[in-house]
Amino acid sequence: MSRMEGRLPGGRTHMCGALRAEDAGARVELAGWVARRRDHGGVVFLDLRDRDGVVQVVAHPQEAPEVHRLASGVRPESVVRVVGEVRVRPEGTANPNLPTGEVEVAATRIDVLSEAETPPFQVEDRVEAEEALRLTYRYLDLRRPEMTATLMQRHTIVATIRSFFDERGFVDVETPMLTKSTPEGARDFLVPSRLQRGKVYALPQSPQQFKQLLMVGGIDRYYQIVRCLRDENPRADRHWEFTQLDVEMSFLVEEDIFGLIEEMFVRVWRDVLGVDIATPFPRMPYDEAIGRYGTDRPDTRYGMLFADLSDIFAGSGFRAFASQVEGGGRVKGFAAPGAAGWSRKELDGLVQEARSRGAAGLVWMAVAGGAEVRSPVEKHLAVEEIRAVCEATGARDGDLVLIVADQPSRVSVALDGLRRLMAQRLDLVPLGRWEFLWVDRMPLFEWGEEEGKWVSVHHPFTAPASDDLDPRSARSRQYDVVLNGIELGGGSIRIHRPDIQQKVFEVLGLSPEEIEEKFGHLLRAFRYGVPPHGGIAFGLDRIVMLLTGRDNVRDVIAFPKTQSGLELLTGAPSVPSAQQLEELGMRLAKPTDRP
Ligand code: AMO
Repeated sequence: MSRMEGRLPGGRTHMCGALRAEDAGARVELAGWVARRRDHGGVVFLDLRDRDGVVQVVAHPQEAPEVHRLASGVRPESVVRVVGEVRVRPEGTANPNLPTGEVEVAATRIDVLSEAETPPFQVEDRVEAEEALRLTYRYLDLRRPEMTATLMQRHTIVATIRSFFDERGFVDVETPMLTKSTPEGARDFLVPSRLQRGKVYALPQSPQQFKQLLMVGGIDRYYQIVRCLRDENPRADRHWEFTQLDVEMSFLVEEDIFGLIEEMFVRVWRDVLGVDIATPFPRMPYDEAIGRYGTDRPDTRYGMLFADLSDIFAGSGFRAFASQVEGGGRVKGFAAPGAAGWSRKELDGLVQEARSRGAAGLVWMAVAGGAEVRSPVEKHLAVEEIRAVCEATGARDGDLVLIVADQPSRVSVALDGLRRLMAQRLDLVPLGRWEFLWVDRMPLFEWGEEEGKWVSVHHPFTAPASDDLDPRSARSRQYDVVLNGIELGGGSIRIHRPDIQQKVFEVLGLSPEEIEEKFGHLLRAFRYGVPPHGGIAFGLDRIVMLLTGRDNVRDVIAFPKTQSGLELLTGAPSVPSAQQLEELGMRLAKPTDRP
C-alpha cells in the first residue's frame, strides 16, 4: 500500500491506516468515512475509513460530551474530520485483524463534513449486493477496502511498468483515438463525423498501425499504456474498453523482445508481489500447444496432456472412432488422475460439457486394473485398444480417461475445456505458481469459416517465418505470452518489405482498391525508409487481474460496463437528441423503445 510523502492536504496529520502503538500520546487529525458506529455502554465507537485503512475512534460521554453527542448521531458513510489523541487500546480489546488494531483515537473534536444518506448496500468487503447495484453506485463500491486496494495496486503496477520502460529509453507517445479501422479481428466502435458528414471514425482496437508508423518516423523504441476498444462479446478476461501496454522497437530480433519482456515481468512481480519469477520463460511451438493442450494458451501448472489416439482406432471395430479417423478427424484423450470412481451423474455431466463445447460426444473409460475398464462402450473396445489407450495417455488404475473423436478443432476445444474443468474439480491447480510461457511458430493464416476466405491468425502486418506464403503451410514470426492458461499478450516481428506486405494482402483476398483504401497510408510510408521492427501488446487489465488474485477484469477496472454494454452509473449509451442527429446528418433506422 502506498504511503504519502510530505504533508497531507487539508491539515490531516495521518492517514487512518497509518497509526500504530508507537504513536500513543500523539495528537492527530484524521478525515474519512464512518464505516461503522457502535454504542457500548454509553461510549460511542466509530470505525473511520480512508483509502489506507480503518482506525477506531472513541467518543467518551464524560471526557468530551459534545463530541459524544455528535458521534452518537453520525450516519454511516458520512464524511467526518476527527481530532483526538492516540491511545493504546485497553487490555484485551486489541484487534489483531486490523493493522491499527492496537490503538484507538480518543476524539476531542468531530466535524461532520458531509452527511450521508443510507447507502443502497453495506460498504464492506463481504459485499452481498448484486454486481448491477454495485456498478450503479460504483463510487460506494470503490470505498470497499478490497476495491480501493485493487485500484492502488493497479497504479503501482502501471508506475513500475512506466519506470521500467523509461529507464530503457522507451518513449511514451500518444496515438489517435478517432481514427481508421485496425484489423485486430473484432468489430469497431464507430463515431460519426460532424464536419465530414456521412463519414465515421473508428475507435482504435489497438494502436498497431500508428506504432509501426512511429518506427518509420524514427522513434526507435515506443511504449504506451493505452485504451483500446473492441465491440466483441465480453468474457471474464475481456472487456470492451480495455487497456493495453503497447510496445514497439526498431532493428530487433525475437530474442530482444523476449529478453526485454521477461525482464519487465521479473521487475513487476518483484516490486508488486515480492516474488521472484524464473527466466527465461519456456517456449512452446504453437503445434505442440494445440496438440498436447488443445489451445494456444495452455495452462502448464498441471498435467493431463493429450494423447493422439487416432492410429489406435484407425480401422477399429469401434466404428464411431474409426469413421472419424477415416473422415480426416482425430481421436484424442487424456487421463484424469483418480477420477475412475466418479458417479454416473458426474460422468453424464462431463458428456454434456463436451457437447456444449461443440463436440459430438465424449467417451469415458474408468480404469479399474490391467485391461479392466468401466465404459459405456467397453464391449466395442478390443483389449489391445484399451491397453494402447492407457499406455498413450499414461492412465493408471483408478484414473478416468476422457476421449473425444471429431474434427481436429472441435476435439481441441472440447478437450481443452474438459482439462480445465477436471483440473478445478480434482484440485490440481497449484496456488501461488506463476507459469509463464512463450508460444510461438504460429501459422500465418487460418481459414475463416465465417468470411469464407483466408484470414490472418494475428494481423496482416505479422512477418512470415520464411518466404513461404502458401496459406496452408506458412508460419509466422508471432509470439504470445501465456500465464497460467491466460493469454497476457501477443506480438510479432512485422513485415517491412512492401512486396511481402502486398502479397499477404493478396492472400487475404483484398482487391487493389481495398488495399489502397485500408492500408495505402502504411504501404506509402514503407516506401520512404522503414526499419525492420516488431513489438508486442499486453492486456493490462489481465495482468492486474492475475496480480490481484481477481477472476474478472471488471473487478480491476474503475468504471466498467455490464455484460450487455451498459454503463449503469451514467446510463450510457443514450439516445441521441434530434439536434445531434441533425448535426451529424444521421437518422436512426429503427425507433428505440426509450424516449
Ligand atoms: P492482440 O489483439 O493479441 O494484439 O491484443 C494484445 C493483448 O490485449 C489483450 N486484449 C484484451 N484484454 C481485455 N479485453 C479485451 N477485449 C482484449 N482484447 C485483447 C490481451 C491480448 O493478448 N496490435 C496487436 C499487438 C502487436 O502485434 O503488437 C494486438 O492488439 O491480453
